[in-house]
Amino acid sequence: MSDEVSTLQKARASYQPKLPKALREEPIKIELGEPTSPATDQIEIESLFPNTYGQPIAIITPGSGNLVSTPLRIGVVLSGGPAPGGHNAIAGLFDALKRANSQSRLFGFLKGPGGVIKGKYKELTAEIIEPYRNTGGFDMIMSGRDKIEKPEELASCKKVFEELDLDGLVIIGGDDSNTNAAVLAEYLKAQGAKTKVIGVPKTIDGDMKNEYIEASFGFDTAAKVYSELIANICRDAISSVKYWHFIRLMGRAASHITLECALQTHPNIALISEEVQAKGTTLEEIVSYITDVVVKRAEAGKNYGVLLVPEGLVEFISDIKTMIDELSTILGKDEEYISRLPDHSERLQYITSLLSEGSAKVYGSLPTDIQEVLLKRDSHGNVPLSQVETERLLIDLVSDRIRFIQAHEGKDFVKFSPLSHFFGYEGRCAAPSNFDADYTYSLGYAAAQLIRGGLSGYTVMIRNLTRPSDEWIAGGVPITMMLNMETRKGKRVPVIRKSLVDVDGRPFKEFAAMRDKWALEDCYSFAGPIQYFGPPEICDATTKTLALERQT
Ligand code: FBP
Repeated sequence: MSDEVSTLQKARASYQPKLPKALREEPIKIELGEPTSPATDQIEIESLFPNTYGQPIAIITPGSGNLVSTPLRIGVVLSGGPAPGGHNAIAGLFDALKRANSQSRLFGFLKGPGGVIKGKYKELTAEIIEPYRNTGGFDMIMSGRDKIEKPEELASCKKVFEELDLDGLVIIGGDDSNTNAAVLAEYLKAQGAKTKVIGVPKTIDGDMKNEYIEASFGFDTAAKVYSELIANICRDAISSVKYWHFIRLMGRAASHITLECALQTHPNIALISEEVQAKGTTLEEIVSYITDVVVKRAEAGKNYGVLLVPEGLVEFISDIKTMIDELSTILGKDEEYISRLPDHSERLQYITSLLSEGSAKVYGSLPTDIQEVLLKRDSHGNVPLSQVETERLLIDLVSDRIRFIQAHEGKDFVKFSPLSHFFGYEGRCAAPSNFDADYTYSLGYAAAQLIRGGLSGYTVMIRNLTRPSDEWIAGGVPITMMLNMETRKGKRVPVIRKSLVDVDGRPFKEFAAMRDKWALEDCYSFAGPIQYFGPPEICDATTKTLALERQT
């Protein structure tokens, strides 16, 4: 870690994350509920997870009885994109283990699940962890996107665990990594291995949530960082009065970040992918909508504005979505062959010969750089959407339309000077907000208790998040309960169902009720930077999304 510690970092280091009362008490125990099952595909999932299927919900409560206090040896790994609070999750895990038994030891696997497979780790001591408390980033042990899935990978994990004599492994990751946790837990149980596997819900995308997991960590901080930046741009827009800012926001498939930032800042336009999908909106209709707002604002003398677009948009536009699905099937069979073709034109020719007529037309109409990105998949089968420059695509298409309007409809008063931005990496490693600092510390702390209770194949759950942290409820939800079967790279596989924006939900409805007003008037709201010191209503506020979703 760098020796350069800023004044704020020094002050922030002494922040003691707030633990729910249920986790602060000693002794504590785990209460188990009724057996569970997933919402769909029960038979298929049960056949894939015979040893971990149907486990009950676990709640941590005061009392004594079923948590071991013998020294434990636990591993921890960070998986996928960084999210604010990862270091606090490790600190919470460490503190809980040491509190239960000072002889317990924690090992951090390096550079993600690949480090688990290869047995690359370092012991995490109090001295190592100390400077990382309340800091952003995943740099304590780094992260990676490898998947533990093939039989030889599962076997080599088991060997590493045996060598290290591990009682448990905590996988801090998103939906795909928690699915991985379920696969590993099932494998280890089937093999009679003693290592328990627990997942922690992480992702700035906010898409790992359901009835039990109220939020993934990191969403709160990242969305607040982007909202600050967007609000600054809004202020620039009404100061310079000459630019249209097209801002793409991270979030992979889901538009939770875009929706939260819209609720925070009130931009003139925010596109929500899930609505585009629900209405079957075409790319042409999206371009018409944007052009219409640009022209109407110009009529009112406002040749400026702010537009938010989620990075996943292209996957939700019906004709593009069909084409991407067809591409995934083709890549499932021919990925290696396609990647060996010498240049883009050969790839284009080969792929269009396999796509349906409609999809070939859509694929051919996209700029070359987007065509190339759509041929990539990460190890989980996802399109690397952060590389698709949708904001530039929209700028190009709207510019063409406006040139036409200026020339043929005599609307030369419309001035369109667009600027593009992409906010993603700016927020993923920010120092966690109080909410994320407390939430992650509690998640790590609870993970230790689930392992002490001998549970495996669970994701840590902390509920009641809109209440003061004292009242949060901690426990675990069986991962098999959150699984469904999906087709990835042409194969049916079990995965945790991604939570997308619910167009019938409160956050979206609140936005939809305001957007026409926001489009034409300047209603920008200046969110300001995250505050770490000051009154709780400023420092401890949750996201608007969480507050609206949990409103009773
Ligand atoms: P996770 O799902 O792993 O949390 O990733 C979050 C994210 O920031 C996405 O929003 C984004 O699409 C992706 O990571 C980009 O990651 P990378 O730079 O590794 O492609």
